[in-house]
Amino acid sequence: MNFRRSHKDHRGRWYSGFMREKSEFGDVAKSVLKLFEKTQIDDRWSFAECGRKETGKWTHGHHRYTAKFNPQIVEKLFDEYITDGNAHINDPFFGSGTTIVSAIARGYRASGTDINGIAYLMTKVKSTPIEPLYLKEKVDRFLIRIKEMKDIVPEIPHQHLERINYWFDEPTKLELGKILRIIREESDTSVRDFLLVGFSHILKSCSIWLQRSTKPTRDKQKVPRNPYNTLRLHLNKMLRGNESFYKTVPTDVRSSLGEYLNIALGDARNQSVEDNSVDLIVSSSPYVTSYEYADLHQLSTIWLDFTEDLKQYRTRFIGSSSRPKNRLVLRSEIANDIVIEMNDKRKKLSEEIGSFFLDMEQVFVECYRSLKSGGRCCFVIGNTTLKGVNIINAQIFAESIQYSGFTLDRIIKREIPSKILPQTRDKKTGRFTASCKATSAAYPVEYIVIGEKMEIT
Ligand SMILES: C[S@@+](CC[C@H](N)C(=O)[O-])C[C@H]1O[C@@H](n2cnc3c(N)ncnc32)[C@H](O)[C@@H]1O
Repeated sequence: MNFRRSHKDHRGRWYSGFMREKSEFGDVAKSVLKLFEKTQIDDRWSFAECGRKETGKWTHGHHRYTAKFNPQIVEKLFDEYITDGNAHINDPFFGSGTTIVSAIARGYRASGTDINGIAYLMTKVKSTPIEPLYLKEKVDRFLIRIKEMKDIVPEIPHQHLERINYWFDEPTKLELGKILRIIREESDTSVRDFLLVGFSHILKSCSIWLQRSTKPTRDKQKVPRNPYNTLRLHLNKMLRGNESFYKTVPTDVRSSLGEYLNIALGDARNQSVEDNSVDLIVSSSPYVTSYEYADLHQLSTIWLDFTEDLKQYRTRFIGSSSRPKNRLVLRSEIANDIVIEMNDKRKKLSEEIGSFFLDMEQVFVECYRSLKSGGRCCFVIGNTTLKGVNIINAQIFAESIQYSGFTLDRIIKREIPSKILPQTRDKKTGRFTASCKATSAAYPVEYIVIGEKMEIT
């Protein structure tokens, strides 16, 4: 290993960029690795008996989202760690809003961030119960209007026209543009956002995006679905979800939602949440070099115009290969070893991995700041292999949270019974792929890494 010997870290070891020299692990790393060796699968956390009906209850089925976790995990964590009816729950990476929706359903306060425009929109809609009869009337009127639409000028974001033409045939594009124009005319923001989420959800089926793929792949044989029929069916499903959610959310939460819900489109490393105010964090972070969230939701991003510059947009996502490289020193010794090992195989990938764990170290510091003493952070995370190197995310998280001040409270190992996460990677690219093209296993099990902010006495 060729190091530019210019800096020393806190234990006096030399480093260059974010890599230190390899040396024997300290006590924290050693005890984490030992603990993981001993940890057995806990069947109570697999929820193998839960079908779509349970995992997609309330508003959870409003919109597909890659790598969403199931609400049963969140609810069980609430059961185990929340004793106060006024609890404040946080998720720094809320994605499709599983944690946020579950917290609001219980009458807790919920806060969090996500950097993805569509994640923010869907989480806002999914956690906002709307009076069901009123909403049904609005949706029915909207459906009549789009069925009859004739002289409507389609609203097609011109700055993304090239990408839209890439994914949609001409008649579908025009129909979607007219629907979007009519949605924008809706004066009630909650109803408008509800319709936008329905619109966003159907984009994949109405495009030539390969239906079974999460990655942006064109299927030239695909016959895109008709926007009107697809939207009508989906909105009806969303109406049912809203109704059952509405009935579940406590009345006082419904009537003053603004006091309970504090979510933002923003960066997990810098949340606008008060110090020492959160009781429980339940989250699942992005993964390094696996999903490019900015690309996965490209159809929604271009139609709903979340960014003018897709390339620049990608750089904001933690775990993205487009992210600017962070050059600080990694505190995690386990991560550092992995970066060194990968550096011998593929330098760029090793930099991406180092950068990811550095970003996560900053997220953990932010989590520690926002939690009350006695509060816990729970991260759902899986391990994987890239280019023959074991990327033991869970062990690294368990080590890193301790350097941010947490005490490692508990590790839960769970089997993933459903196909929520793809189980396989393409060996050449390292990216997730369909199981039929599998060349290497990815996440058969995952962990919940739980840290506690100890009471300061
Ligand atoms: C695994 S997903 C979370 C899924 C979520 N638990 C659910 O059930 O839907 C990770 C999320 O991290 C978000 N993300 C990536 N970089 C971020 C950043 N810098 N700040 C906040 N969120 C970010 C992605 O947009 C993605 O939604």
